[in-house]
Amino acid sequence: MRYLVDFDSEQLPQEKYDVIIIGSGVAGLYAALNLHGVLSICVLSKQFMSKNNSYLAQGGIAAAVTEDDMPEYHYEDTIKAGAGHCNIEAVSLLVNEAPIDIQALCNIGTRFDRNADGTLTTTREGGHGRFRVVHAQGDATGKEVIDSLLAECRKRTNIKIVENFFAVDMITKDDSSAGVLVKSCSNDEKQGYQILWSKKVIIASGGIGQVYKNTTNTDIITGDGIAMAYRAGAELADMEFVQFHPTALYKENSSANSFLISEAVRGEGGILRNIHGEPFMKNYHEMGEIAPRDIVARAIFSEMRKTNSQFVYLDITHKSAEHLKNRFPTIYEKCAGEGFDISKDYIPVVPVQHYFMGGIKTDLLGRTNIKGLYACGEAACTGVHGANRLASNSLLEGLVFGRKAAEHINTIINETEFVEQKAKNKNEPRNKKVDIASIRAEIREIMDYHAGIERNGADMIIALSRIEAIIERLESINLRKVYEMETINIAYLASLILKAAIERKQSIGSHFRIDQ
Ligand code: SIN
Repeated sequence: MRYLVDFDSEQLPQEKYDVIIIGSGVAGLYAALNLHGVLSICVLSKQFMSKNNSYLAQGGIAAAVTEDDMPEYHYEDTIKAGAGHCNIEAVSLLVNEAPIDIQALCNIGTRFDRNADGTLTTTREGGHGRFRVVHAQGDATGKEVIDSLLAECRKRTNIKIVENFFAVDMITKDDSSAGVLVKSCSNDEKQGYQILWSKKVIIASGGIGQVYKNTTNTDIITGDGIAMAYRAGAELADMEFVQFHPTALYKENSSANSFLISEAVRGEGGILRNIHGEPFMKNYHEMGEIAPRDIVARAIFSEMRKTNSQFVYLDITHKSAEHLKNRFPTIYEKCAGEGFDISKDYIPVVPVQHYFMGGIKTDLLGRTNIKGLYACGEAACTGVHGANRLASNSLLEGLVFGRKAAEHINTIINETEFVEQKAKNKNEPRNKKVDIASIRAEIREIMDYHAGIERNGADMIIALSRIEAIIERLESINLRKVYEMETINIAYLASLILKAAIERKQSIGSHFRIDQ
């Protein structure tokens, strides 16, 4: 299906911008700030500006900023975590330019945590050979970064921030981007459509969390940007590589998104124990608790199976309550609310979906194969993460490649014209009815069971045929509500992930085939 809905631009309200940015996480906001101040920019947010995964980021941002570290060491750790599948030029750019963007954030007022001598405090996370993760407000790095970027964006008169608007589809003409069809989330059914024409579009809409039943991602992360780019003909890459964070807080029978227990807790001495209280990570990897994330997630999964349990424990009880309250205030409070004093009690944890290494294929300037369409952040695949992202390289990727996309647009925007200003679509009549909520739940369940930490070909082939049947049903209804459009996006992404995972026969990084 090329377009999800029928539309005729001549019947709809229209606006024109130099650049439209879809998504208000770190990549989108930082791209907006790095575009020339003379350009008219529209930043679209599906809900309110702080409802995104960047805002939830706890651990921090990796960058070689201490005296005993160098970008070369950061490079080695990134490549090792990526299981040899990384784009080495992208990694080199990422690690070398990381300190520039940390400094730029400091310049706009981001308050990173600091030592008594004023230097940046750093922590260690899985896969890092050194302490190189800068953080803010203890474990609320994403909140601090987004708040400061947003405050800066609000000062710029050329940046219009639009909340509560859903990007339905890219409008293209031949192989060029012309603009975006959007729909207000507050108006249900047929109302609230609008066309935003632009010279350039940047997709920075985040990952795919809601494709899975258990995820740390917020509930608006339904892969819309990737799905709409795919419908418009954008090339996607590395779709089989889905990252499972080893330690989300375990809650029995919870349907809510999972709360993350930052890897920094392990980086600062947290021990994983099975339900009998036995530490086990050294049996799986010489780096123990701070092995790369895919290895720790698999080790926990294996230990859960051996002990016939739904979770393992994370033990940080050797630290005092005072220290933990100060260093991990968000985690301390959340766990206290769930009835655990983490200075005394072990925390029950379980691996869940957390991040997507695949996405819209871009070059090092954020360009896709569609002229005028850029992508950055989790929606993009620069190849920087390979088959498994190194901890705290995600906000960093959003910064570095968001800036790269903006800088490239700055150099060419004066020679760029608007692409044709008319478009319409009419799908075949569709009038079936389906129970969308149960379809969505079914997709997410299928993906958790068959495209999770361990995969096997025969099961994935069956899973794919179930997803394809679901897509057929969804394509037979008149998509009216945003929830329905999100659900078909989830279904398309599930099928693309499964196809790529079936195709890749060998295990690598986060893609682990038990049938090979
Ligand atoms: C964490 O704090 O463990 C998450 C950081 C990340 O996803 O890189």
